[in-house]
Amino acid sequence: MVARFDVVTIFPEFFSVLDVSLLGKAGQAGTLEFGIHDLREWASGRHRSVDDTPYGGGAGMVMRADVWGRALDDVIAAQPSPCVVAVPTPAGEPLTQRRVAELAQREGRIVVACGRYEGIDRRVIDHYAQRDDVDVWEFSLGDYVLNGGEVAALALIEAVGRLVTGVVGNPASLVEESHSGAGLLEYPAYTRPPSWRGLDVPGVLREGNHAKVDRWRRDAALAISAARRPDVLSRLLADLDRDDRAAL
Ligand code: ADE
Repeated sequence: MVARFDVVTIFPEFFSVLDVSLLGKAGQAGTLEFGIHDLREWASGRHRSVDDTPYGGGAGMVMRADVWGRALDDVIAAQPSPCVVAVPTPAGEPLTQRRVAELAQREGRIVVACGRYEGIDRRVIDHYAQRDDVDVWEFSLGDYVLNGGEVAALALIEAVGRLVTGVVGNPASLVEESHSGAGLLEYPAYTRPPSWRGLDVPGVLREGNHAKVDRWRRDAALAISAARRPDVLSRLLADLDRDDRAAL
């Protein structure tokens, strides 16, 4: 399984949240390792500049290939394990739980190259894609534009990291959740008190009939998926049985 994440960024302070919560504990326990690298360490000149104006003109700045090349060469060479260079970009492939699970299963590590949103000189991606020991993967968090790749890098690290054995205490909690297991969105959850501000916990969840609870949860997951994510539901239609179809 993947055990180490390296991030190259001009905002290393973004990643202080990796000290917190489950990922923080996994880092302290050595289950996961994190290396956060400031791109400017590989920049030269008095201003340590990492970007320049785009060839062909236009607004914004483009991050320089020479600075990125020095940084990635060093970060990749520092650890002898196979690696995926993940590049967050709104023009990337959508990040899905399927892809996250595949990444978690791979041996080695993930190096995340965070650009600002106007992007990194294209030759950087093309160059590392040619290397036999590196897989380059451009990914997007969704159809909206962030200022840079840092938030997407954190999302990737959390999504992949929590699937690494030992990071989440109770592995059963990984099974039923949205987009894994059944593939449906998750059903709603309730706990005490049984009545709150005039709203009651559905009776079936308090009666102790596990078959009925399972049916209620499945129906609720189907209804939520149909309402919010018809695309998810239509991919699963062929796998639905008669009871499932009756719930729709
Ligand atoms: N950088 C800017 N926008 C992004 C997005 N939607 N996904 C990943 N990286 C990004």
